[in-house]
Amino acid sequence: MSTTVDPAPATAAFEIRPTSSPCPDAERAELLATPTFGTVFTDHMARVTWSAEHGWHDRRVEPYGPLALDPAAAVLHYGQEVFEGLKAYGHADGSVWTFRPWANATRFAASARRLALPELAVEDFLGSIEALVRTDAAWVPSGEETSLYLRPFMYASETFLGVRPAREVEYVAIASPVGPYFASGVKPVSIWVVRDYHRAGPGGTGAAKCGGNYAASLLPQQEAYARGCEQVCFLDAATHSELEELGGMNVFVVGADGSVRTPPLNGSILEGVTRSSVLTLLAEAGHDVQEAPIRLADLRAGLEDGSVAEVFACGTAAVVTPIGRLASDDFDLTVADGGTGPVTAAVRGQLTDIQYGRVSDTHGWMHRLL
Ligand code: COI
Repeated sequence: MSTTVDPAPATAAFEIRPTSSPCPDAERAELLATPTFGTVFTDHMARVTWSAEHGWHDRRVEPYGPLALDPAAAVLHYGQEVFEGLKAYGHADGSVWTFRPWANATRFAASARRLALPELAVEDFLGSIEALVRTDAAWVPSGEETSLYLRPFMYASETFLGVRPAREVEYVAIASPVGPYFASGVKPVSIWVVRDYHRAGPGGTGAAKCGGNYAASLLPQQEAYARGCEQVCFLDAATHSELEELGGMNVFVVGADGSVRTPPLNGSILEGVTRSSVLTLLAEAGHDVQEAPIRLADLRAGLEDGSVAEVFACGTAAVVTPIGRLASDDFDLTVADGGTGPVTAAVRGQLTDIQYGRVSDTHGWMHRLL
């Protein structure tokens, strides 16, 4: 059951330059049968080129393949790069939809501004997604919890070692059939709260979706793996006492009284599209929902005395993932019922029902791709 209220139907036209060697049907069917996260890519990619002289030009879909990059390309030295993540969902009637792409397009432009990259128009962002998914429609998986993950990104391609914004930039969108983000599937995950490292600081790039933020999370993430945890949770850089976000997803805490809290957008937290959708769905379900600081000390006390009932992570890749355990050097706490609480399960169900077209889209969040 799908309806759409589409606030931005205009999309730019992309020239299709098809591959002469698409993946054979049988091989593709095998790859689509049990997709993992981010390991397999479709036959094509969408591209738009930018230069200070000509602006955005050469909108095309071309065969997926390695990008030519001069060893002195600025992105390789100074990390001038931003990216996005959204998904295309196959519905039971054979149609294919994406979720709130306007929000991703807007965030992509905001991230680009912060990294001194040129902004890509919403029409180009949407046009690239539509052209790519229509060209590679056969790659949209149909299994439960599967989707076609879309990864638009932009990088400084100019050959120049001086430190200034690049005058040549490439925009590329690639697509990957995916299953659940965590190898364990849709099961509660363990979180390691890191004390010695921060993901972002005041005035930094924390609110931008740029590669550097994720690179900075890798060493603490290794620490998390070493402690048997799937994800790391960062605290704020100023007071080291409040939860900010996980390595690649936002965090929510559910009280035993049904109230729900997530850290506010303070400039160093990513404005997650899933985060905002979950806030809306929980408020509509009657929960007292607050975007307010979560002190680690309060969360620990709440888990110990039972006033915190559930904790979950959310993001495009992670959807809504329950958190079953929270640990650090000086504590190791289990969430009630191992993290399989009803509020987390309900909001996950509501969100995915909308995304997969199992209920009607009363919010106008879905955008039909084909
Ligand atoms: C997403 O949820 O789409 C992300 O970008 C997070 C992660 C996979 C980097």
